[in-house]
Amino acid sequence: MEPGLKSRAAVVAASSTGLGRAVAEALAAEGVHLALCARDNARLQSTAAELARNYGVPVWARALDVTDSAAVADFVQAAAKKYGRLDICVSNAGGPAAAPFAQTTLSQWRSACELSLISHVAFAQAALPLMQKRHWGRFLMITSMSVKQPIENMVLSNTVRAAVLGLARSLANEYGPDNILVHNLGPGYTLTDRLRQLARGRAVAGAESEAAVLADWASRSALRRLGEPREFAAAAVFLCSELASYITGQTILVDGGMYRGI
Ligand SMILES: NC(=O)c1ccc[n+]([C@@H]2O[C@H](COP(=O)([O-])OP(=O)(O)OC[C@H]3O[C@@H](n4cnc5c(N)ncnc54)[C@H](OP(=O)(O)O)[C@@H]3O)[C@@H](O)[C@H]2O)c1
Repeated sequence: MEPGLKSRAAVVAASSTGLGRAVAEALAAEGVHLALCARDNARLQSTAAELARNYGVPVWARALDVTDSAAVADFVQAAAKKYGRLDICVSNAGGPAAAPFAQTTLSQWRSACELSLISHVAFAQAALPLMQKRHWGRFLMITSMSVKQPIENMVLSNTVRAAVLGLARSLANEYGPDNILVHNLGPGYTLTDRLRQLARGRAVAGAESEAAVLADWASRSALRRLGEPREFAAAAVFLCSELASYITGQTILVDGGMYRGI
């Protein structure tokens, strides 16, 4: 069956590397026209040029911080103007700092709210009215499997991201009549720069090697391995496609079976 994504227009946030980049690449492979953003302009433009070259689709990119709501609104408007439409928005950001509760400060809590909750709200505010106009849309928020099963030492992520579930469910109900489907997509341990960075941090604190920390995380999933960004991206593409037209308001974990609930 055809995914029906050719020539659709998508914003993919925080997409110069990691999961955001993998989603952008998988959408490009389906013929989607892309607008990308991240903070480091050189790396972002290099990703955009590479995707445009490899997949022959238009890829436009603007450097911004997703915690700057005005910049997010302007970026989404500019993307819709460039392509004459906005069909898909994948809202993503870096992750909050890893720490146990006793080591967190109020300032870190406020920053985590800005990064992992308010940034999604800003993308929703900007993107959903544009999708309403065409009575078609897909709005995906990238969070973490921690929304179902809290991860040790990650209290900021465990707490703030849980609010995104309420947001996804509420938006799905409110925008369902507009044929806009909304989901929360939760990665498990997936081999990106951030995961390596977290593993290095834990290795330093616990005197283990980075490889040993990664092997331990891999062993916690039912599949006994880490995920690859392209596996996460495949789920995102499916949810954006016509094939997923009767699914909305879901929290989909791409975690190799790490979440053990029923
Ligand atoms: N990988 C995993 O195993 C895993 C598991 C659970 C949850 N997650 C979550 O999934 C999300 C993506 O993770 P990842 O592994 O892909 O991370 P990553 O490899 O560190 O990539 C992060 C991407 O986001 C951009 N970015 C970071 N902060 C930004 C900001 N404030 N504004 C704009 N762009 C920003 C980065 O570019 P710049 O630095 O240039 O801005 C980069 O393109 C994170 O929220 C992470 O916590 C990941």
